[in-house]
Amino acid sequence: EKGNYRHFMQKEIFEQPTVVAQTLSSYIRQVTQSVTLPQMDFDLAGVKRITIVACGTSYYAGMVAKYWIETFARVPVDIDVASEFRYRDPVLEPGGLALFISQSGETADTLAALRHCKAHDQTIAVVVNVPTSTMAREADLLLPTHAGPEIGVASTKAFTCQLSVLAALAARLAVLRGRMDREEETRVVQHLIETPACLNAALTHDDEIARMAHLIAPARDVLYLGRGPDFPLALEGALKLKEISYIHAEGYASGEMKHGPIALIDEAVPVIVLAPSGPLFEKTVSNMQEVRARGGKVVLISDAEGIAEAGEGCIATIEMPKVHPLIAPLVYAVPVQLLAYHVACVKGTDVDQPRNLAKSVTVE
Ligand code: M6R
Repeated sequence: EKGNYRHFMQKEIFEQPTVVAQTLSSYIRQVTQSVTLPQMDFDLAGVKRITIVACGTSYYAGMVAKYWIETFARVPVDIDVASEFRYRDPVLEPGGLALFISQSGETADTLAALRHCKAHDQTIAVVVNVPTSTMAREADLLLPTHAGPEIGVASTKAFTCQLSVLAALAARLAVLRGRMDREEETRVVQHLIETPACLNAALTHDDEIARMAHLIAPARDVLYLGRGPDFPLALEGALKLKEISYIHAEGYASGEMKHGPIALIDEAVPVIVLAPSGPLFEKTVSNMQEVRARGGKVVLISDAEGIAEAGEGCIATIEMPKVHPLIAPLVYAVPVQLLAYHVACVKGTDVDQPRNLAKSVTVE
């Protein structure tokens, strides 16, 4: 039931603080301030390479995980969209872990990739939201998300729950491999515990984003820019907007603009920039200035510090709480979801059942 909400998507966006807390509670031990994973009968620390495979929004969660796993645990990570994976005849060496991410656990391409990896002696780990799904049954290591049923075709709460599990996985792997000491693990746990509150803070911008949606709704094209772990968020923002508002949108790594896409910029193209303050901020802002210099209309999503430094001249800014880089992708998911949602409402499209799409894609 939708309760007081107009759409399932809206309800699911607002459920995120609760379901992320629920999900994290099975990956965090409060008493010991440590990260924990379900029992497994293989040596996670000894894994030589991780291959991540998924589709759509789940794939973007995987892209974020690649940054985290490589940064924290120093394990090399490959990532593919499932529909491409098998056909490039990937090199799968012994000792590899294949990680599949799926809300439904039934996506045909992802399942086929899972079976391919199994046939090539990879250990199979899955992050799924439906514990009775086919992928869950075929896994060596099941890492459930506890998002509850997701009805809206556009994935929202499943995504942030996937990120929660993947952050825990990256941290646990780092601990096991001696790359994260107790002190840092405690710090990471603290940040994860704060995540639901940060999501709530992000959600308080709902009305403001609803008003801003009127600036975006008339556009024919919209670009999203981000760097590092926020680059996949740019891709996710663009996917959400395309999917439910039917506005053409693309996400780019901010540094790629000058290699082609900047040619698209004029006053008719809004550019959404995702830039938490931190080590990557200055670089992203200089890419943003290049856009502005060409008449681009920028919406900056950053924290107070970032907005104070670079917000001037933007058509709008959305202020996120100041968060640790580890949880920024979770928190910045909220404004891009809300923006897509409200733009779709302005356009009057069918938010929960967008045209040509199904919730679960069970054909290859
Ligand atoms: O159930 P899955 O996570 O495997 O589904 C993957 C994609 O089909 C899904 O994320 C799709 O991209 C969403 N509609 C995006 O909002």
